Amino acid sequence: MKKISYAVALVVITSILWACTKDVDNNEVPTRKLDMATLQVDYTDLINTAAFGGWNMPGTNNARVALGRALFYDNKLSLNNTVSCGSCHKQQFGFADNVAFSDGFKGVNALRNSQPINNISSFSGSLFWDGRADSLGQLVTMPISNHIEMGFERLENLPAKLEATDYYPQLFQDAFGTSNITVQKIGTALRDFIFIITSRNSRFEQMSNSQFAGNTINIWTTPPTDLTGFERIGFDVFLGKGQCSSCHSGNNLEGWDASNTGLDLNYTDKGMGAINPNMGEGTFRVPQLRNIALTAPYMHDGRFKTLEEVIDFYDHGVKPHANLDPRMREGWQDGGFGGPFGGDGIIVPPNGGTDDSTTIVPRKLNLTPLEKKGLIAFLNTLTDYTMVTEQRYSNPFKAE
Ligand code: HEC
Ligand code: HEC
Repeated sequence: MKKISYAVALVVITSILWACTKDVDNNEVPTRKLDMATLQVDYTDLINTAAFGGWNMPGTNNARVALGRALFYDNKLSLNNTVSCGSCHKQQFGFADNVAFSDGFKGVNALRNSQPINNISSFSGSLFWDGRADSLGQLVTMPISNHIEMGFERLENLPAKLEATDYYPQLFQDAFGTSNITVQKIGTALRDFIFIITSRNSRFEQMSNSQFAGNTINIWTTPPTDLTGFERIGFDVFLGKGQCSSCHSGNNLEGWDASNTGLDLNYTDKGMGAINPNMGEGTFRVPQLRNIALTAPYMHDGRFKTLEEVIDFYDHGVKPHANLDPRMREGWQDGGFGGPFGGDGIIVPPNGGTDDSTTIVPRKLNLTPLEKKGLIAFLNTLTDYTMVTEQRYSNPFKAE
């Protein structure tokens, strides 16, 4: 009997030890060296074409963007040198992550699904899924000090750590004219690198471009004639039967507002409701749809693995949550003043009454298989393969 318990104990201890070693292995990142030739290249055209013409980056230059790129991919920005911004915002997945909840610096999962970070400009407010960051400048250092993501809760200790490297003093000197390192400079450089990450060459834009000046996703003008059959069907559903454009609109097919889309009857993650009770439970920012084919899984918690699942949800899965956005309800009609944001939407309750506050009936789209396929074909036209292969957005650290 004793022998057996020894044996059991041995097995248990060995597996704990093994698990621990494994943990250490997981955290051990092979040393990588910053490749200066890769980093110090000409970014001028990207600066000039950054969202809204680059004028939102006063005083920026090649050196500042290069510094931002180095910081973005540097594991040293995490407390134990294991993760960088690029660990959760991966270029090949449209700068989002391909898992529902990315691993933070201690292997503990982030609380929400990683978001794409392209086409953010100085006009972009309400960042994060719950809109709690007012601007990119305010946001960029938040992940560094986040106790799950990068763990540098005492952000003021980061400059000294970077000063001890053999590359940062010179990079800060080149970027700012002085070699001392401050949290503010770190934030500015990171922000400027993110500003140049823009998607502006999707198939939809290429097609629109043949008819309209400038690369932009503008769904409110005449649809490009070279949309294929399926793509055109999907485009029409997006604007018409699906009413997707009542929320996903503008150059990035995103919303300036927030919405409860009826994913759940009880939300585990309360979204904006957790920080602002007036917004109500389950309210999240309307995300952009650029490169959506690359950024699976979907929604704030990555619950849907494919676009098919997302569309099935909109088609017949919407729950009658008390805060359900009026635009997701049966009877919603767009008032028609050139789009959904004129405050002109009205609900015509299905029961013919005038007060919809007591009965919440989620809208069912009843899309045909052809229309669902079309919607996906249209969403696929929003992928920009040049963004995900642009060398100057890539990791400048190389394995030693
Ligand atoms: C451990 C994974 C992880 C790391 C590391 C990480 N992020 Fe994020 N990022 C996320 C998640 C998750 C969200 C969504 C958070 C939320 O809504 O609460 C996010 C959101 C963002 C957004 C908001 C995008 C939008 O449209 O609102 C930006 C910008 C961003 N991260 C930049 C960065 C930068 C810069 C760094 C490095 C300093 C970084 N992230 C490091 C996971 C990560
Ligand atoms: C009432 C506003 C509204 C309408 C209408 C709407 N959406 Fe959304 N959409 C949202 C919000 C808000 C989210 C984020 C929800 C969350 O994560 O809790 C979202 C998320 C998504 C996502 C996942 C994005 C990501 O990065 O994970 C896709 C894809 C999407 N919507 C496509 C569509 C399509 C296609 C339609 C039309 C069939 C549509 N949406 C209609 C508000 C809306």
